[in-house]
Amino acid sequence: MKNIKDQSLSKIELKKVLLRVDLNVPLENGKVVDDTRILKIIDTIIFLLKNNTKIIIISHVGRPNGKINEKLSLKPIAEKLEYILKSSPESEHVYEAGQNVRLVKNNLSEITKESLFLSKNEKIVMLENIRFYKGEEKNDDDFAIKLASLGDIYVNDAFSCSHRSHASIDKITNHIPSYAGFQLNEEINALNKITSEIKRPITCIIGGSKISTKINVIKNLIPKLDNIIIVGGMANNILKYKGISIGKSIKEDNCEIIIEEIFKASKKYSCPIYYPEDVMVGKNLQDKSVIKELNEIDEHDIILDIGPNTLEKVLKVIDESQTILWNGPAGYFENPNFAGGSIEIAKKIIEKHMANKIYSVVGGGDTVHIVNSLDAMENFNFVSTAGGAFLEYLEGKKLPGITALN
Ligand code: 3PG
Repeated sequence: MKNIKDQSLSKIELKKVLLRVDLNVPLENGKVVDDTRILKIIDTIIFLLKNNTKIIIISHVGRPNGKINEKLSLKPIAEKLEYILKSSPESEHVYEAGQNVRLVKNNLSEITKESLFLSKNEKIVMLENIRFYKGEEKNDDDFAIKLASLGDIYVNDAFSCSHRSHASIDKITNHIPSYAGFQLNEEINALNKITSEIKRPITCIIGGSKISTKINVIKNLIPKLDNIIIVGGMANNILKYKGISIGKSIKEDNCEIIIEEIFKASKKYSCPIYYPEDVMVGKNLQDKSVIKELNEIDEHDIILDIGPNTLEKVLKVIDESQTILWNGPAGYFENPNFAGGSIEIAKKIIEKHMANKIYSVVGGGDTVHIVNSLDAMENFNFVSTAGGAFLEYLEGKKLPGITALN
């Protein structure tokens, strides 16, 4: 893999750089509520600006499924990036006053490399949400060729998207000289170090709402781990498999076979799987929380957090672990009534970290948001921006984005 930072000036200077980043950040009422993923790409941007390049930022936010959805515009994210760059201590060296991050709303078919920048002084533009185009998730070659035609070189600084075979991650690298960015490099080095120096018992906590991304990973992680704690949306699938009514809670269809395999592997490798024994429910996402035993969940209930008995058990497992890998919140933490499980898990890890009794790695946009809201980024050994990519990397899978760069 070629890193952009190791390239000679002649390969970078004056080039138009297509920079794929992951600005899939939490948004609330059109505002960025956690800027961790934006902050993590600043080093690459500053480096590129210092090398006299023009930057074309490519990102997605959310899952618009190939259709334009104004609620998933990158506009607030472009504004936030501009604000952060202008307040960066390095900005006076590389950033001319008044310089903006201009969001390009035009359809890609209307844009050419020559028309993309409006003036000699314009240094950074951001293309609108790349997932507004069907070609992106289809990894369509023609779409990749169009994208590649907008720049001279390509940099992937989106480790957290590198598990996706999408055009701006994978196929694009066939059509343009391609490099790894600072952040991607840092994530891979850190995860390699973790996996080679890991101490047992190792516990992995998997939560969040992206069930389909994560459920297949669990089976392959089992042989490498000592405990798995399943919370969040995926736990609903386990409960349903166990014959428990989960009311209106989120779930993924057709997961029975994979769950059966997960439990078989858990037995084979003596890696217990912990899942909720009691839950917090509401009738809608804004509701108050009610504690329920599993046999009390009614058809109108939505499971939105783990219950107190489950939490107690989870905290005990964390207490007995030497390494914790955590991806995905335990509940719908956006509503404080259902944030308790995630916050208590975070606090337990922090307590153990401060006593130097645990090695902790946390990953994923939402999980990082929780840690950030507790002002506790320093209390984890490594904070990865990646969720699904982080789990797949731990699983030992080859990530398409990394393979493409190689
Ligand atoms: C993430 O948040 O993990 C990445 O942005 C990938 O998003 P996706 O799961 O929608 O592909």
